[in-house]
Amino acid sequence: MTILVTGGLGYIGSHTVVELLKNNFQVIIVDDLSNSEKFILDSIEKVAGKRPVFFPFDLKRKELLSQVFDAYQIDGCINFAAYKAVGESQEKPLDYYENNLFSLINILQEFKVRNISNFIFSSSCTVYGQADEQPIDENTPLKTPESSYGKTKQMGEEILKDFATAHQRKVSLLRYFNPIGAHPTALLGELPIGVPNNLVPYVTQTASGIREKLNIWGNDYETEDGTAVRDYIYVVDLAKAHVKALQKLIASNEDTVIDIYNLGTGKGSSVLEVVEAFETANDVKVPYQICERRAGDITIAYANADKAEKELGWKAETSLEEALRTTWEWQKYLESRNS
Ligand code: UFG
Repeated sequence: MTILVTGGLGYIGSHTVVELLKNNFQVIIVDDLSNSEKFILDSIEKVAGKRPVFFPFDLKRKELLSQVFDAYQIDGCINFAAYKAVGESQEKPLDYYENNLFSLINILQEFKVRNISNFIFSSSCTVYGQADEQPIDENTPLKTPESSYGKTKQMGEEILKDFATAHQRKVSLLRYFNPIGAHPTALLGELPIGVPNNLVPYVTQTASGIREKLNIWGNDYETEDGTAVRDYIYVVDLAKAHVKALQKLIASNEDTVIDIYNLGTGKGSSVLEVVEAFETANDVKVPYQICERRAGDITIAYANADKAEKELGWKAETSLEEALRTTWEWQKYLESRNS
């Protein structure tokens, strides 16, 4: 079967493309390279032994997208292409709504007229906001996210539910917790542009001396050590969940399917625990200082991922230390490329 992977050269996208290729799917990538680099395509080929078809364009360009659907018999889509910086989305909300929602709608229009089903959407635990109870399962009530980025994820989910219902299609909404780590070959990983916002890329760059010290945003939260708690999920485990979710949609005999899964480990780790795990896993030091809380941060979020285990036969397998070891190997690879 042939799967369109939008954003397939990005962080989670590239790892998922490798897993799809390993499972004998044909892959067509559309990626505008706005937050990825062309060399990732070569890396995918090295890791998977196959080179996916690649088109570099912006999904808002409907006519180009239509040509891809004309040229290939597409059986499904995994839609990673989206802007994802929480802070930036507050400064440029229209760009976020335009990019994340128009591109989604353009693909769905093609799905509609060509009678294609099987759509997987990258959603986020951000749709739960600060949940009243932990762990968070799929029935935990959604809250309005603080950021425009988060709102595009919630709106994307609603668009897909309406689409599946009105046109009898199969969709899967995957709510990621905090993805971390890199491919065990160290050929694929996250490529943060500029100063990283996310914890693990910042920790990594601090350990390597690119950043002087890590700023820990707050140690006065109501958690065991006072720092905020998240559920850090290894990116290869996350990638594998996409293949399972896709296989389930394809195998389903129902006309309309709306699957929703939390993808996390089920275990919360504090910022200080992540720092310590990174230091232990890699035998390096991560200098840090405690700062004021970051605006918009929640205290705690970790998943109940039992539904994915029961229905997809998937669960996170990789430890925090192991994931952080791959991150460090990836950082060393990036530095060797630059030297
Ligand atoms: N943190 C620091 N210092 C840093 C970076 C982060 O202390 O330099 C802390 C944050 O305050 C937070 C934790 O590390 O407590 C994790 O922060 P991240 O930015 O890595 O991740 P978030 O949980 O804030 O954001 C993630 C995704 C978003 C998504 C959000 C939903 O990156 O895409 O979860 O809650 F919207």
